Amino acid sequence: MKVAIYILLLVSALIISAAYFVNGKVVSTSAPLAVIPESPWVIEGESGTLGAELYASCASCHMADGSGRSDGDVPRLAGQSQKVLVHKLQKLRDGSSYLPVMLPFARALSADEVLEVSRYIAGLSTITAATLVQTVPAADSLAATKYQEYCSACHGAQGQGNDALLAPKLCGQHSAYLLRRMSETRQNLRGDADSGMAAILNIIEKADQIEIAQWLEAIQCTATGLSAGSNT
Ligand code: HEC
Ligand code: HEC
Repeated sequence: MKVAIYILLLVSALIISAAYFVNGKVVSTSAPLAVIPESPWVIEGESGTLGAELYASCASCHMADGSGRSDGDVPRLAGQSQKVLVHKLQKLRDGSSYLPVMLPFARALSADEVLEVSRYIAGLSTITAATLVQTVPAADSLAATKYQEYCSACHGAQGQGNDALLAPKLCGQHSAYLLRRMSETRQNLRGDADSGMAAILNIIEKADQIEIAQWLEAIQCTATGLSAGSNT
C-alpha cells in the first residue's frame, strides 16, 4: 500500500514538473516544487445519511449550504475535496494544526465520522445563490495570469485543488479568507504551512495577492464547468 502511494506521488510530481515546460516557458526559476506530503488517512467506505447528520453540528458556523461567511472569518467548505477535508480535520484532531476555535468540533468526531462528514461536505454545491449573481472574470485577466504563474502548479489551473499534493480547492472561496490564510501561511501561524507556498508568497506584492484572491473568489469553480469536488 505504502509503495503504491509513493509511486502515485512520484508520478504526480513528474506530471507537475512536466507542466512547467509544456506551457512553453519555465514559469520562474524560483517557482517551487511541492514538498509532497503523505496522507496517512485512506478514504473508503459507503456513503450514507450519517454525514448529513454530523454536518448539522457544523452548520451554525459554516452555514447549512457550507458557504461560510463573506467576511472571511469562517471558510466556505462546500465542494472542498473530501481528501483535503479529512486531512485538515485529522491534523486538527492530532494537534499538528493549531486552530483552537475548531478543535472541540474536530475532536468530537471519530475517525469514521471524519470520513463521512467530509464526504457530505465535498458533495455540497460550490455554487450558491449569493455567488450566482457575480460576474465570472476573463481567463486572460492580469490576476488570472499571475495566478497561473505562481499558484496553479499546486492548486490547479482553475483553482480546483490537487489531492495528490493535499492542496485545497480555492475557487469560489471568500477572498477575505484567502488573504487571511495567505498571510497566516507566511507566518506559519498554524504550524502546518506549506513551505513551498510560503516561499512564493514572499515574492508576490500585496496588491497582486489581493487581485489573485478576488479572481479566485469570482471564478466560482465554473470557468470550465468544474463540478463540486472535482480534482481534474
Ligand atoms: C463555533 C463555530 C464553528 C463550528 C460549530 C464548526 N466550525 Fe469549522 N471553523 C470555524 C472557524 C471560525 C474556522 C476558521 C478558523 C480560522 O481560519 O481561523 C473553521 C475552519 C474549519 C475548517 C478549515 C480548517 C483548516 O485547517 O483550514 C474545516 C475543515 C472545518 N472548519 C470543518 C468543520 C466541521 C466538519 C464542523 C462540524 C463537525 C465544524 N467545522 C464546526 C468555526 C466553526
Ligand atoms: C508549492 C505548492 C503551492 C504553491 C506554489 C501554492 N500553494 Fe497554496 N497551499 C499549498 C498546500 C499544500 C496547502 C495546504 C496546506 C495548508 O492547509 O496550510 C495550501 C493552502 C493554501 C491556502 C489555504 C486554503 C485552505 O482552504 O486552507 C490558500 C488560501 C492558498 N494555499 C493560496 C495560494 C495562492 C494564492 C498561491 C499562489 C500565490 C499558492 N497558494 C501557491 C500548496 C501551494
